[in-house]
Amino acid sequence: MRKPLPRLGVNIDHIATVRNARGGEHPDPVAGAWAAIQAGADGITAHLREDRRHMRDDDMVRLQQLCESENIPLNMEMAATEEMRDIALRLKPKAVCIVPERREERTTEGGLDVAGQHNRLVPIISALNDNGSRVSLFIEAVAHQIEAAAKTEAKVVEFHTGAYAHALDDNNQDKADDILRALQEGAKHAKALGLEVHFGHGLTFDNVGPIAAIEEGMELNIGHFIIGEAIFMGLESAIKEMHRLATQARYG
Ligand code: PXP
Repeated sequence: MRKPLPRLGVNIDHIATVRNARGGEHPDPVAGAWAAIQAGADGITAHLREDRRHMRDDDMVRLQQLCESENIPLNMEMAATEEMRDIALRLKPKAVCIVPERREERTTEGGLDVAGQHNRLVPIISALNDNGSRVSLFIEAVAHQIEAAAKTEAKVVEFHTGAYAHALDDNNQDKADDILRALQEGAKHAKALGLEVHFGHGLTFDNVGPIAAIEEGMELNIGHFIIGEAIFMGLESAIKEMHRLATQARYG
């Protein structure tokens, strides 16, 4: 039997953040990825940043080995740079998500400007695609970015849900409703153009429901909350609960 949708990609970057706070090897994000897979993660996501603030190059190699042996997709998040392109071409992860990256940001803020950077992105997307990685573009759910994404060889768009999460954190329900409508309409638009739709950023037990309920969504990528919540309830319980909430939102 096929597993219910949406798939849950568990982003393990912040296991590496904790490791790096002390140096050394503990906690090992690859051991965390293994535990996430045992708990039912449908995929493992990891962002190799230019400054290596969490994942390191050797982590990515070990993650790819683990994911291959467990037959689980590794989704490598990366900026569209030549350095990252070459690493991804060697690594051959099942999926690559291209994100905007600024050194001074704490996390990925805002979506990729696919429309404005078309000529720079297209050769990188094509090279990754030809190398066997399914490329997704992390964008805001706005028509011109969706249409620009559809003009590349990327098969997937991941919609940034950070603004939705922030609006709810600020108790601004009207703004959250507007953003949710844009995500719903964007998902329909992207699917009509032949793109698979994913969602990610800032998702928690409290806000995942309406996003998971968007029926065009095939995957949720969630990191910070799951890894943080694992402190209180354990990684396995946090992943199982996120899966349960997403499936319940989708299927009632
Ligand atoms: N998707 C993308 C493209 C991201 O860059 C991130 C953050 O690294 C996430 C999902 C996960 O976001 P969060 O850690 O807030 O769950």
